[in-house]
Amino acid sequence: MTRPFVTVYNEMSVDGRITDFAGDGVRYYAHGFSWPRDAILMGSTTAQAFGPRETDEEARGPGPDVSPDPVPPGFEEAVAGPRPLLVVVDGSGRVRSWRHAQAAPWYSGYVSLASERTPTGHLDHLDRRGVEVIRCGRDRVDLGEALRRLHDEHGVRRVRTDGGGRLTGALLAAGLVDELVVMVAPSLCESPTGRTLVELTRRLPAEAALLDLDDVTTLDGGVVVLRYRLCGSDQEATRTVSPASRAATSPVAPRAAAARPTTNT
Ligand SMILES: NC(=O)c1ccc[n+]([C@@H]2O[C@H](COP(=O)([O-])OP(=O)(O)OC[C@H]3O[C@@H](n4cnc5c(N)ncnc54)[C@H](OP(=O)(O)O)[C@@H]3O)[C@@H](O)[C@H]2O)c1
Repeated sequence: MTRPFVTVYNEMSVDGRITDFAGDGVRYYAHGFSWPRDAILMGSTTAQAFGPRETDEEARGPGPDVSPDPVPPGFEEAVAGPRPLLVVVDGSGRVRSWRHAQAAPWYSGYVSLASERTPTGHLDHLDRRGVEVIRCGRDRVDLGEALRRLHDEHGVRRVRTDGGGRLTGALLAAGLVDELVVMVAPSLCESPTGRTLVELTRRLPAEAALLDLDDVTTLDGGVVVLRYRLCGSDQEATRTVSPASRAATSPVAPRAAAARPTTNT
């Protein structure tokens, strides 16, 4: 079994933090959705931001009524083409806001990655929500097996992440990252507890931490998008640079011209 090409994608401050800085979530997602991708791999902490968690009573029934979200201006093209699967790593069964994810216009289908330890009650809940479950791994989700099954059973060839440093750290430690794309906002993290781009629970082998710079795109407002290929990756290169993003390469425009930044948390 082979696995898809995996691109880690984050917006960060110049000091490498992915929360508590002046970023622009709209610009970040607009850029990310402009690349070809078959699935978005999201961490369970990130996925909980879709909406309020269902109560125990709601989770056992049909759930709250949630009206479909309109397509935000500027994202019409992103939803017109083939849409990606939303795949959430959720071995502990923490995500209970699927109704909100399903109301979003971005995804073609929904998969929750579970392990042998995922509570049965949560699997029943996912079944009621029409969320497919891929069960792999004993104590935690086996990310490598999950990616291989997405490749073989769902035809997923390109994955982009939407997660934090813990998911990225776990993917890197397992040798499952091929490309790292960081949108660098011209700002510094404002908080001593700002989360970092990569959070490791063990040392990476030196050769697994080497990157080749592949592409640099400068966007308005002093924003830079850096695209690195992992030196150790032997996956077939599937460039995720879209013609639109290449066309965006331009001299640095005055920062004042940029959209008003929002805090990315
Ligand atoms: N600036 C950006 O670009 C950006 C983008 C997305 C998110 N964020 C921010 O990132 C923060 C969340 O980051 P996070 O890293 O805590 O959460 P996360 O990426 O949302 O979730 C971490 C995920 O990694 C899984 N995981 C960790 N180690 C694993 C391992 N060894 N094997 C299998 N699965 C493993 C966890 O699984 P379990 O649940 O089973 O433990 C969990 O699903 C939020 O504040 C969010 O706003 C920023």
